Amino acid sequence: MAIKLHIKDISAGYGAVRALHGVSVTLGQGQTVALLGTNGNGKSTLMKCVMGMVKPDSGSIVLEIDGTSHDLTRLATEEIVNLGVALVPEGRRLFPKLTVEENLLLGAYRAAAREEIGRNLEFSFEAFPVLAERRRQLAGSMSGGQQQMLAIARALMSSPRLLLVDEPSVGLSPLLVSQTITKIKELKERYSLTVLMAEQNFNQAMRIADYGYIIVHGEIVFHGDVDTLRYNKLVKSFYLGVET
Ligand SMILES: Nc1ncnc2c1ncn2[C@@H]1O[C@H](COP(=O)(O)OP(=O)(O)OP(=O)(O)O)[C@@H](O)[C@H]1O
Ligand SMILES: [Mg+2]
Repeated sequence: MAIKLHIKDISAGYGAVRALHGVSVTLGQGQTVALLGTNGNGKSTLMKCVMGMVKPDSGSIVLEIDGTSHDLTRLATEEIVNLGVALVPEGRRLFPKLTVEENLLLGAYRAAAREEIGRNLEFSFEAFPVLAERRRQLAGSMSGGQQQMLAIARALMSSPRLLLVDEPSVGLSPLLVSQTITKIKELKERYSLTVLMAEQNFNQAMRIADYGYIIVHGEIVFHGDVDTLRYNKLVKSFYLGVET
């Protein structure tokens, strides 16, 4: 099953705050694309546009599934989830007073996913053994790294084909950041996912990305494959503030 995402010339914002100006991003089947940029540059807004949580003022977002195009700007979030798109939101957004297992079950929102609930739960526990050990523990009492794993597993409970991950590394220790990024790569391969990942941690994102876009003040200022991005000193020092 082939999936592609074509984001074209998206402009969006919140009332007087304009967050995105003519943003275009393309994802091919099985690609991992990194959306790189520091705070407040529009990464989450773009993810929300894909999920139908923010309606763009102009531009198009087309999800192509086996050659059939779906205009996501015309669909409700629920319909977008039903097409096989899932978001691991920024800040995880778990239900802290519910158990690990209850949080996972809430991820099986998609009609088709409800039929696969048992199997997906089994997969989640297999992919993240720590969640199996702690299935009855309250999500809010888990460590930051465990909560991020739970947030990712919850997104996978909807059997997505396109996974959006918004800043998985935030608030994690360097070791956990690295483990989380590695896990995303493993899951991607295992489930043949196509992944759009917003990240501020340039070097970690580059470990698993095929292609990257740098967003500054709501505009894509540079894009290229990993080698192009990695060896372009201008990109790093000017746009990401990374030491070169
Ligand atoms: N609900 C909202 N209401 C008003 N303005 C908002 C809202 N959400 C985001 N913004 C503004 O839109 C711009 C882009 O924000 P966005 O959250 O998309 O950035 P980001 O790249 O995800 O940042 P971060 O790395 O901090 O998560 C910012 O100027 C932000 O203040
Ligand atoms: Mg954000």
